[in-house]
Amino acid sequence: MTHRYDAVIVGTGLAGLRAAMEMPPGARVALLSKVYPTRSHSGAAQGGIAAALGNEEPDMPEWHTYDTVKGGDYLTDQDAAEVLAADGPRAIFELEHLGVPFNRRPDGRIAQRAFGGHTRDFGAAPVKRACHAADRTGRVVLDTLYMESVRRGFRVFPEFSLVDILLREGRVAGLVAMEFATGELHVFETRLLLLATGGFGRVYRTTSNCFANTGDGVYLAYRAGVPLQDMEFVQFHPTGIHGLGVLISEAARGEGGFLRNGDGQRFMDRYAPTIRDLAARDVVSRAILTEIREGRGIQGGDCVHLDLRHLGSERISEKLSEIASFIRIYLGLDPSNDLIPVSPTCHYMMGGIPTNLDGQVRAADGSIVPGFYAVGECACISVHGANRLGCNSLLDLVVFGRRAGQKMVKDLSLLDRTELSSKSESRIHGRMKRLVESRGEVRVPDLRSRMQSVMNRYGLAFRSEPGLRQGLAEIRELAEQCAFVKVENRQRGYNAELMEALELESLLGLSELILVSALQRTESRGAHYREDHPLRNDKDWLKHTLVRARTEGPEVIHRPVVITRFEPKERVY
Ligand code: FUM
Repeated sequence: MTHRYDAVIVGTGLAGLRAAMEMPPGARVALLSKVYPTRSHSGAAQGGIAAALGNEEPDMPEWHTYDTVKGGDYLTDQDAAEVLAADGPRAIFELEHLGVPFNRRPDGRIAQRAFGGHTRDFGAAPVKRACHAADRTGRVVLDTLYMESVRRGFRVFPEFSLVDILLREGRVAGLVAMEFATGELHVFETRLLLLATGGFGRVYRTTSNCFANTGDGVYLAYRAGVPLQDMEFVQFHPTGIHGLGVLISEAARGEGGFLRNGDGQRFMDRYAPTIRDLAARDVVSRAILTEIREGRGIQGGDCVHLDLRHLGSERISEKLSEIASFIRIYLGLDPSNDLIPVSPTCHYMMGGIPTNLDGQVRAADGSIVPGFYAVGECACISVHGANRLGCNSLLDLVVFGRRAGQKMVKDLSLLDRTELSSKSESRIHGRMKRLVESRGEVRVPDLRSRMQSVMNRYGLAFRSEPGLRQGLAEIRELAEQCAFVKVENRQRGYNAELMEALELESLLGLSELILVSALQRTESRGAHYREDHPLRNDKDWLKHTLVRARTEGPEVIHRPVVITRFEPKERVY
């Protein structure tokens, strides 16, 4: 089936929905979502959304910009950080006016709390900058924006998975999506395409990401000829429920919780003497892993404890009720009485599809791909640099989602439609046919599990050349086995096995690109820590990585970092 639209937005998390709100009445706009829209992964964001409102104590956007640049270990493009911080207060008031039920202070203003890496006075002490709705902030913002999209009558295609991106002569022509309920392929002809498809934490075994976060949009963009930027920077959130990876929000430490090692010590004093448990995530995660490696995990094992007992049950149920319920359900523990076993979990991808400040996708030579936009975790603006600060993600989604939407509206009148051939879906048809007719014996869950083991072993927070080379060799071998994947389920509708086989190609491709990018960066910066190159090296590496597809394999090139006002200096917390 073929559909014709002026603009198609793929992804109905906060970024996609916020961009859609800019679309003028009468424009033919379609929203596609791999899951039912309110199940988008934005809804899993817990702790808050950052903005320098200064409701609790003095704060200013300039300090927020500085924290974002420092948090990103100076790989952050500073013009992007300035936009994010300056537009933050407006974005929060807009959400408030749309009906987001933020927690309130006694004087009625929006309540704010501390979060990792957010400081006052250029790093002097933690500042309360995270606006929140208990620990369900993403959930309530997503529901509010979705309600708005219903009110405006947007055409939504739920449970439609992106399976191909169609570029013609270097510009957007359309896309192909598979309808999960029927297995039918749908071609969407469109002048403008915005990807807001989220991250790909599912390349790792332990992750806070939902099952849908398999990076299809990012990988299909790469396959269509777009380079990917800063893929080596993978964020591990310090506090996943040990063994499961389920997120225990940083809000727990923002409200006063802290970490203890197996000796019962508060060890963060040794790693970040000024802001301790509220240092940036890469610093805290490495500290936890160092304690574990040096034998100070709980009972010598591979986790530490998060201690919330002193907060008391009343504060926990008022501000941290969601995580308290996760802790009860998954661990059978009561956070007001018990210590919580935690360890780092893959949480966020700093890398992705390179864009300018208006969400326009950039080709390898820095030029714009006409009609193509990306925003949110699938994109790399780069506002988060080498490590994102907690609560900057939700802000990124609504600030840059709005900007991308505004730019699309301007471009609507400029770009013509590109004709698609009648065989637009033939490439994906071929892939699907190969999968269902395969005589191979390789099962998707086995291959995926082996991929996740390789990534957990070699692509985690501590990396080295021998490990990365070994990981790359193993991932490439697994990718070759994709040709022998067998899909036994022959039903057309709700064929999860076929869907997972298609996703696996993206996951394996992205795993390779993470390792290729990590191998070439012979320094340590932000979330990328090389044991064989433990120092940051601004002389050689103050630049973005771009990896692009070549017939002989991925090729790495570089792009300068935008520095406007903060000269790189040593990063200490
Ligand atoms: O810890 C958290 O609540 C996560 C927030 C974020 O990733 O921004």
